[in-house]
Amino acid sequence: MSKQAKGAAKAGKVIIGNWKMKKGLAESAALAKEMVEKFRDFNEDGKVVAICPTLVALTEVDKIVKKSNLKLGAQNVFWEDRGSYTGEVSPQMLIEAGCRYVIIGHSERRKYLLENYSMIHQKVREVLNAEGLVPVVCIGEENEDRKTDRRDFVLLNQLQQALGGIDISESQRIIVAYEPVWAIGSGTAIEPSEATYAHKIIRLALDDMFGMQAVEKSFQIIYGGSVTGKNVKSFSNLENMDGFLVGGASLDAEEFYKICKGI
Ligand code: 13P
Repeated sequence: MSKQAKGAAKAGKVIIGNWKMKKGLAESAALAKEMVEKFRDFNEDGKVVAICPTLVALTEVDKIVKKSNLKLGAQNVFWEDRGSYTGEVSPQMLIEAGCRYVIIGHSERRKYLLENYSMIHQKVREVLNAEGLVPVVCIGEENEDRKTDRRDFVLLNQLQQALGGIDISESQRIIVAYEPVWAIGSGTAIEPSEATYAHKIIRLALDDMFGMQAVEKSFQIIYGGSVTGKNVKSFSNLENMDGFLVGGASLDAEEFYKICKGI
């Protein structure tokens, strides 16, 4: 049996900080220390808070957060366990480094590394096979898709490509992060009504693919794109809103704490 208890109830809200390539080793360690202090008394309704520093800082940050309220995540992973794959890192290696979460298929990787949904699918599969690591699968439409009314199609297609044909057992979990590409780093988050709509579409598609019971138990849908301490409240009580994937605002301990308190 995996590290997650069999048949466990749906987890609490999850807030994940994606530090992208914005902090080096020493800076990541310093920020992690600041966060650990800030979150010392944070213990709310089973909320989970994770931070995802750059790969080279994982083991150092793991030492810092190990006994704290914070979990560790990575920003990328490869789909093989071991072998001649220069520059890549496997799920087991991330687990050994202390990671519990891994972001897969972020739109920046799709844009700059040409990561496609076939790769993303393989990554999700391999991560699910490795016990103890939860995939955070990113989907989201471009501005052009939104303007031309293709958003629903794009989201369904991305979900199907990433997750179609995957079996999920009671002990496994998947987080789907809805990140409209146009909202990332723009300073303008999506309208709450639009987020509600998109999350509903995602939820219905997942219900269709995996069955309602499995989705209720094993899936969480989180939102990412210009979330701040200020706008977090407008998202916190939306239907099918299980948390956030936060970029810029997760680089400031005070701001990130506000977001985590706010949802
Ligand atoms: P921002 O919160 O900076 O818009 O970034 C969102 C994101 O890309 C998280 O993965």
